[in-house]
Amino acid sequence: MKIIIDSAGKIAALAAQQYVDLLKRKPNAILGGATGSTPLGLYAELVRLNKAGEISFKDASSFNLDEYVGLDGTHDQSYRYFMDHNLFDHIDIDKSRTRVPSGIDVSDPSAYDKEIAAAGGVDLQLLGIGNNGHIGFNEPGTPFGSLTHVVELTESTRDANKRFFKSIDEVPTHAVTMGVKTVMQARSIILMAIGPAKAPIMKEMLQGPVTEKVPASVLQLHPDVTVYMDFEAAKLL
Ligand code: F6R
Repeated sequence: MKIIIDSAGKIAALAAQQYVDLLKRKPNAILGGATGSTPLGLYAELVRLNKAGEISFKDASSFNLDEYVGLDGTHDQSYRYFMDHNLFDHIDIDKSRTRVPSGIDVSDPSAYDKEIAAAGGVDLQLLGIGNNGHIGFNEPGTPFGSLTHVVELTESTRDANKRFFKSIDEVPTHAVTMGVKTVMQARSIILMAIGPAKAPIMKEMLQGPVTEKVPASVLQLHPDVTVYMDFEAAKLL
């Protein structure tokens, strides 16, 4: 595992460089997307590099980690909407090759794993981390062998995400997420953490035992992970 600690601006630029290198080497790479506050700086940097002609996504595809159950892509808090507005609408990717799990038809979530496998598997998966150690919406206690599935969100996750909704009652109670095993099958993984609220969990994830109680700790077992943290997220290491 590679660990990089720098300012939020610098880690966004360094992570973006990983995308530049990958897409130069493999223009049709499959990217694993994440939402939330953490990737916003990286996505802004990717948009800038794309407009400057330094990176092209025209042959790339993507699979996002997760989606709220019950929200369709036109809902402004859906993760499809987030991806379109913060990245896909501003880069040269073919939108028909960008996938976000459906929050409406959740009858066969593991079909998503089959789609990913049929496409050749994710080359570079981006992750944020929840204050409770979740990756995607794999909350503490999720089996490491899990594939894409529907989860009931914990109160702590709903509370952390209520800032985007009018009230906590509007925060969906369920989500569909790639499983821990789905994430671990990616050839390379980037995990980013920004801000002091992430400091305790970064210590647990990196220096604690590998345990299903801290889903992100499983990344200690992956052969190609780069963790990018700002100084605040790294302050307890
Ligand atoms: C988002 C996702 C979540 C977030 C995590 C951190 O697609 O899967 O695991 O990465 O909740 O969220 P932020 O970045 O808002 O702190």
